[in-house]
Amino acid sequence: MKTDISKLTEPEVAAELQLLAIEIAAHDTRYYQEDAPTVTDAEYDALRRRNQVLETAFPHLVLEDSPSKWVGAAPAAGFGKIEHAVPMLSLGNAFDEDDIREFFARIRRFLNLAEDDQVTLVGEPKIDGLSISLRYEEGKFVQAATRGDGRVGENVTTNARTIEEIPDRLSSDFPAVLEIRGEIYMSHVDFAALNETRKASEAQVFANPRNAAAGSLRQLDPSITAQRPLRFFGYSWGEISEPPADNQWDFLQRLKSWGFPINPETRRCDTPEDIMALHAGIGAKRALLGYDIDGVVYKVDRLDWQNRLGFISRAPRWAIAHKFPAEKALTVLKEIDIQVGRTGALTPVARLEPVTVGGVVVSNATLHNEDYIIERDIHIGDTVTIQRAGDVIPQVLDVIADKRPEDARPYKIPDHCPECDSLAVREVGEAVRRCTAGLICPAQRLERLKHFVSRQALDIDGLGGKHIEAFENDGLIDGPGDIFRLRDHAGVLRGREGWGDKSVDNLLDAIEERRSIGLDRLIYALGIRQVGETTARLLARTYGSYDAWRRAMEQVSLERNNNAEERKNPDLIGDAYAELCNIDTIGMTVADELAGFFNADNVENRRMLDDLGAELNVEDMAPPETTDSTLTGKTVVFTGTLETMTRSEAKVKAESLGAKVSGSVSKKTDYVIVGADAGSKAKKAADFGITVLSEENWQDMIGGAT
Ligand code: IVH
Repeated sequence: MKTDISKLTEPEVAAELQLLAIEIAAHDTRYYQEDAPTVTDAEYDALRRRNQVLETAFPHLVLEDSPSKWVGAAPAAGFGKIEHAVPMLSLGNAFDEDDIREFFARIRRFLNLAEDDQVTLVGEPKIDGLSISLRYEEGKFVQAATRGDGRVGENVTTNARTIEEIPDRLSSDFPAVLEIRGEIYMSHVDFAALNETRKASEAQVFANPRNAAAGSLRQLDPSITAQRPLRFFGYSWGEISEPPADNQWDFLQRLKSWGFPINPETRRCDTPEDIMALHAGIGAKRALLGYDIDGVVYKVDRLDWQNRLGFISRAPRWAIAHKFPAEKALTVLKEIDIQVGRTGALTPVARLEPVTVGGVVVSNATLHNEDYIIERDIHIGDTVTIQRAGDVIPQVLDVIADKRPEDARPYKIPDHCPECDSLAVREVGEAVRRCTAGLICPAQRLERLKHFVSRQALDIDGLGGKHIEAFENDGLIDGPGDIFRLRDHAGVLRGREGWGDKSVDNLLDAIEERRSIGLDRLIYALGIRQVGETTARLLARTYGSYDAWRRAMEQVSLERNNNAEERKNPDLIGDAYAELCNIDTIGMTVADELAGFFNADNVENRRMLDDLGAELNVEDMAPPETTDSTLTGKTVVFTGTLETMTRSEAKVKAESLGAKVSGSVSKKTDYVIVGADAGSKAKKAADFGITVLSEENWQDMIGGAT
């Protein structure tokens, strides 16, 4: 029985919210990423409800990453519901040639066809993404809904609008009402890049491209969706004011003429033999397509026949999904090694008896973290199921318990870093254990170097992680500054196997080109925990120059107060620390990481920065373009739910008028704009005597300013 809220003290509520966040996150991972929930839906809902109740009663205690702000998880409360005018159905499955022959025979029987009547089918890859229904009225995009339960989906219109491959207006000759259905997906390359970025900013990585696509589409903040590389293939329709064509093939051509991407592997087939050949052909190409598919869908080409065939329960009689076998395999777990990442995270890696999974030989797989191993009771020597999810890093799924040999041994994650023997600790609420040595640890040093040259960071043409590793191995580089002194070793480089004069020259040129680098890229490249691309850009914009940023961060580090209670008191927070925390979306967690990185005791980091600074020309970052207005130089805070705009739109607008948008109210705040259900910030503003504006006042104000 949960304690009655009225009897709880604030620290108790804060602690419970913290626990709920951890618990709900763990359930979400098990449900959405591992497909292995450990609680019933009702139990899960109860946790979310409790979270909601506590947050409503104590709005000022809502965590920055509260479960109530997550999406990509349970039916998100933040989206409106849309009832599909025509339900979005599923497909029956076929697994082998017999099933395909039976499918053909059933169609013939149902339509009562003569021997020589030909049944033409259209075969299309079955895209492994999430289906969506896009509504157009008079050729204009008006609404997008997810499939949901097939009858009612979620309204994701604003987010879908940000997807480039979804046309906003149809180009030609369209029915007045037209719902286009198809699949939103993410390509392998984009998925890998997104996860790299997430890893760099310590965000949880997506398990596969499908989850990444779903998580990206179901964001409450459309500006996040806009940054995600989502793509679309169209393949069918829902409500439509006139018949779309005579057959599926022509419908697809019309889709194309309206401006939608259609899948280029689509073919017409007339016999089971054609079908099997298409299935085998697409199967063989599967790994090269660049996106995940899980089978081939066959649809009766003639739409009049589709209409006659109709549906059985929730699937059409005129279509079937021919699945590919799952890319899973059994093998023996020979050893568990630890990989030390850039931020010191210890990741257990399974060394496997090599096995072929989906055409690729796999000998390593991730075990994620120590809890993952404990929850599955994984022993060294066990026979395990492994899976290549969406052609990404293979993972160990499960143990076949009755195959456990007598000499199998349990595994315990080390409490010292296997690379440098420093203490490795797991902080409360964290899933990972980390080596505490920072740059002293050779593994962290190497990983940071790799990150430094990665695509979103310095992005030096021809200098990848493998080269960094080799150069470091040979003692040519030790820290990032050394990369810019590689030209002093041109002779040694030219002597290396596989390196001709030309490639060495090209590399050195590419390095020189990066000697001038934007402040935002440099900040990101340093690989500070919690500082991903977006945060790096914000920091660069706020501080403008490398020197100003570094000075401010060193000051932040001096000001950081270790006393948790005192830190809540605005009078005791130093100016530099307060300014940093006041940047919208930068909170204390990020501030503390920056403070830690610039701590005077962290001699290695300071030395690295001095050394690098001497080599680089860091370009200043201009603040965003602004027009002079009454808001120039003012600090504003938005709080509560805004009605006429999203938070991100409001922020962009305010910044374009020269205002600084901050996440929290302080004495420096000029205006607080209060939307519906505003919490403690509104009260705080009143306490400080700051001007509080309604959304309407604000609109009037900026209307006058532009
Ligand atoms: S047709 C009434 N075509 O597969 C038939 N579905 O298992 C509607 N899918 O929910 C579906 N690629 O998300 C169709 N080329 C394709 C598809 C496709 C992927 C998905 C779709 C649907 C699921 C059915």
